[in-house]
Amino acid sequence: MDSPPCDQIRIRPLQPADARFCWTTRRRAFDELFRPELPVEIWSMGRAALQTEDFTAIARSGAVFIVEDARNRLGFFALTRPAPRQVELYLIYLVPEQSGRGIGRACLTFMEEWIRRHWPEAETLFLYTIVPGVNGGFYRRLGFTGQPVVMDYHGRPVPAVRFEKPLGRSAD
Ligand SMILES: CC(C)(COP(=O)(O)OP(=O)(O)OC[C@H]1O[C@@H](n2cnc3c(N)ncnc32)[C@H](O)[C@@H]1OP(=O)(O)O)[C@@H](O)C(=O)NCCC(=O)NCCS
Repeated sequence: MDSPPCDQIRIRPLQPADARFCWTTRRRAFDELFRPELPVEIWSMGRAALQTEDFTAIARSGAVFIVEDARNRLGFFALTRPAPRQVELYLIYLVPEQSGRGIGRACLTFMEEWIRRHWPEAETLFLYTIVPGVNGGFYRRLGFTGQPVVMDYHGRPVPAVRFEKPLGRSAD
């Protein structure tokens, strides 16, 4: 696919009109990427777990960002802050066709700088993934270390990997 370089992407806060895009993009990842790695009941529960209005609700309690180029929205990510020193990368989803172009790396660079500016007491960036076969390599490549855990996934115990990274280190 013909793709613009990463210096042409823009990252901006979510607006209410973006919520449907977030829902669709997350749903596409479940349908097109995650299904083979998950038991069907976990997949089915996970794909239905967030509704359109949830993305604006997450933005009210944390920070949600849209990634776009001059023409299209390319993806989004959401940060929450469960404790003053801890930031969770709660969601990160690119439109499937946009994967593998360096956009995820650009998002990580942006969010680490944003956290340093806006939440300076934060020391650790962490996340859980229930599909480490799909995306664990990305997090390891960007300097996260992972531990297998059983997480509370929308109220159910589900095997996952918890990845974390100290803040203050660059994404390189
Ligand atoms: C995971 C995701 C955000 C990564 O973004 P991306 O733009 O595809 O990743 P990048 O192209 O920026 O890759 C950055 C580096 O990680 C590496 N990488 C990416 N995915 C990888 C994988 N699965 N295994 C190993 N390395 C990987 C790239 O080779 C690249 O290395 P380099 O910069 O040294 O060349 C994106 O692919 C995505 O949205 N996936 C589907 C949804 C998803 O899994 N979300 C996370 C839910 S927990």
